[in-house]
Amino acid sequence: MKVKIIVFSQTGNTRQIALSIANGILNKGADLEVLDWMKIKDEPPENILRGCDLLGIGTPVFFYQLPFCIRDWLMKFPKVNEKPYFLFITYAVVVGTTVRDADNILRKKGWKLIDNSGFLGFGSYQAYLPWPRLSVQFPDFMK
Ligand SMILES: Cc1cc2nc3c(=O)[nH]c(=O)nc-3n(C[C@H](O)[C@H](O)[C@H](O)COP(=O)(O)O)c2cc1C
Repeated sequence: MKVKIIVFSQTGNTRQIALSIANGILNKGADLEVLDWMKIKDEPPENILRGCDLLGIGTPVFFYQLPFCIRDWLMKFPKVNEKPYFLFITYAVVVGTTVRDADNILRKKGWKLIDNSGFLGFGSYQAYLPWPRLSVQFPDFMK
């Protein structure tokens, strides 16, 4: 079984969880690839997802919801027929609608959420960033 985990992580919390999940999956003998979202974000998702039997997506919570960059990326996903995926999120205080946001987008495209988990991470919100804090590119300008 080909498993791909795609993780968006700026300060390492979600990446750490991704690697722990990856270890568990490797122990079960799966063919696994862990991809850094920042490196694949400009490629068409159908290319990245081709040949993948199980998808894992890891993302932090931003502003009580799915980060806008991940939301926009999910909206470009191809339609599939009941393909399974799991979602893991990290947060500092409040999870908000993050899981529902992702599922609302992907369910309509045939992706089936088989499991999700939230993990408390260290807070990394840069509260005193200069204005505009919510630019169109946000959070890419922080890379
Ligand atoms: C722009 C921004 C907004 C955030 N908004 C929230 C939030 O609404 N709720 C929350 O619990 N944590 C929030 N956080 C904290 C992150 O979700 C948390 O630190 C996460 O673990 C960061 O993941 P990373 O280390 O993989 O980048 C925010 C962080 C940033 C940078």
